[in-house]
This record gives sequence, structure tokens and C-alpha cells, in this order.
Amino acid sequence: MHNIRKIQDDLIYVGGNDRRLALFENHYPIPRGVSYNAYLVLDEKTILLDTADAAISELFFENVTYALRGRPLDYIIVNHMEPDHCANLGRLLERYPDMQVICNSKTLGMIQQFFAADVSARAVLIKEGDTFCSGRHVFTFVMAPMVHWPEAMVTYDVTDKILFSADAFGTWGALNGNLFDDVNFDRDWLDDARRYYTNIVGKYGPQVQALLGKAAGLELQMICPLHGPIIRSDFGYFLDKYQKWSTYQPEEKAVMIAYGTIYGGTANAAEILANKLAERGVKNIVMYDTSATHSSYILADAFRCSHLVFASSTYNNGIFSTMEHLLHELKAHNLSNRTVALLQNGSWGPNAGKQMKELLEGMKNITILENMVTFKSRLQEEQNAELDELADAIVASMKA
Ligand code: FEO
Repeated sequence: MHNIRKIQDDLIYVGGNDRRLALFENHYPIPRGVSYNAYLVLDEKTILLDTADAAISELFFENVTYALRGRPLDYIIVNHMEPDHCANLGRLLERYPDMQVICNSKTLGMIQQFFAADVSARAVLIKEGDTFCSGRHVFTFVMAPMVHWPEAMVTYDVTDKILFSADAFGTWGALNGNLFDDVNFDRDWLDDARRYYTNIVGKYGPQVQALLGKAAGLELQMICPLHGPIIRSDFGYFLDKYQKWSTYQPEEKAVMIAYGTIYGGTANAAEILANKLAERGVKNIVMYDTSATHSSYILADAFRCSHLVFASSTYNNGIFSTMEHLLHELKAHNLSNRTVALLQNGSWGPNAGKQMKELLEGMKNITILENMVTFKSRLQEEQNAELDELADAIVASMKA
């Protein structure tokens, strides 16, 4: 059965949830599911803002049909062409042959790519700053290239001051009945919002900054993203998070320790270091085994924390595989402005540290503490002092 929600009299939520998908983009675990949001405006003309993933096609079409209550669908605004939002566009074009497609020129090309459909004759091509009036509502369009694809744009309802923000301000996690953000967001959503942002658009900080700059002048009553709750309570909270994430500034003075271990020797050293940090008063510590936790979680915490410790066994004369993957992910997502400490293990030829250092030196504004600790197989009792020194250096840097 249809499952729509009235956001306001003429704005209807027609999206839905997916709790079956294991890996978003066949890459990121989403144990709490995901929502694919789509919105229908019932003005003198009817306008759909984006479609939804193929996983919820049946519900999506039931929702649209029910919400239209026999009216034709006059327009679709395509903000983003990634298939989690456009998968149903092909069927929609067939089902509503008179529907016109409001999109930019890059989007038009992608519609052809994905659906082998030339919709030029049905396209209302728009560019930055153009307006479109559907009756009571006037919409304007802001290009948001690389947030998160090159064709991405956001649509601003000038009349009701609603920003349809595409992937921006979205989060993983299926909606649990509550459609809006005025729940306990820190408890229920922040971790997923951070992991979604950092992994999906974390690489494109300058482009997110450009979008934030353009959006800064907009008066906001609501932000309607394509995933997760609609934002209507504390815009400053989100803007502050997006400001930090997109400029690669840590959210918190905190230590994240990630270790890549084979038989536990490296894990043991990392645990001892964590204890030493705690004994020195550091309260905010998080630890990960790079083989046990998907890199997307570790990357998200690397964006949150000011200080990072990487401890790696040597493997194939280099960095342990899962640690190497993590470091490449951090680099690929442009993580910058962090202080890093290193530990390396190697039973006969410790070499992970040198290679971790080289990788980190290729990233922007990473301060690597000098006191790298090297051990063979297991940390030895007499190396306690070295680890104490490293803990002291981390704490001193946190206080600086
Ligand atoms: Fe949710 Fe870039 O798509």
C-alpha cells in the first residue's frame, strides 16, 4: 500500500526505506538501512523532485499515483542522476508521456547514458539562477557540481523557503517513522550522517564549500535531502558540521587509534598506548582493528578526531593490507590537518612505518610525530619508555 507523508499541504513525501541493502554503492555497509527521499509538489502544476532507487520502485509508483489523486504529473526536476535517485526515471517517462523534465545540460546527457532515451524534446533546460513558476511556487536552481556528481544541482523553493538539497545534508539510516530531524539527532543520526558525508562527498570539500557559499544567502524553513530526515530545526548545527567536514577541520580533540595486526602483537601495542593515553587524562579515544571494521567507519572517525594513531604490522615488506587500504582511503578523501603518530611491527624486517609515513606525507597538512615506535613481534618490556614518550607527545600536541 502507498505510504506517503504530508510535509505541508502541497508538499508530499513519496519516497521510502530500504533495510535490505547490505552495501550502499556496493561498497559501504548500511546496517541501519537507507531512505530514498522523493518529493511531490501539488501546485497548479504538479512537480516531482527526483525518483528513487529500484529497490523501492513499487512503493514509489504507488506513492506518486496516490498522491496525485488522478492529476497528471506535469514535471520532474532531476537534481541528481545517481541511480539511487533516478532509477525509476525511465519508467516514469513512459508512464507520463506528457511530463516534462526540468534539468541541466549535463543531466540531459546522463539520461541518455542511463536510459538510452533522448528526452531533448521534453526537456526544460535550466542553468544556475534560472527560475521556474508552477503556480504558487517559484523555484530557482543552484548548480552543485561534485556534490556528489558533476551534474548535481539543488532546487530552492523561493515561495516556501525550502531547499531540495540532493545528496547534501543527507544521511544513511532508514527513517523510523519520524520524517524530521527534531528528534535526538546526535543520538540517532549523527554517526550515520558523518559516515555518509565523509565517504560519499568527503573528497569534494572545496565543491561543498562552494555550495555552502551559494546557499548562505538563502532563507531556510526546511532542507529536504535525498536521504535521511528533513531538516527544519537547527540549521546552524548542520552548517557547522558541513563547514568542519568540508574544510577538513576535526570536530573534536580526540584520538583515533587504528591498528592492522596479524597475530595480535600490534594490537597489544596499540592497546597499551590507549591505556597510557587514558592514564594521562585523554577521555576521547576510539580504537579500530582495520581488519575487523569497514574502512568507512574508520574514515568517518578520522574526520571527527584531531589526532590519529596508525599501528601496522609489516606484510609483504610493506603496510598490512587492511591498514594500507585505510590509508589510501584517507588520502583519496583528502583528509588533511591532522596530527599522526605511528607504530610499526615486523618480526624480521619492520618496514610498514616508512611506507605509512610516505603515504601520509602525500596528504595535506599532516603533522607526523617524530617518536615512531618500532618493535619486533611483540612490544618488549624495555620499550615501555618509548611508548610513554609517544603518549606524552600526543598529549602535548593535544594541549597545544
Ligand atoms: Fe544518493 Fe549521489 O546519490
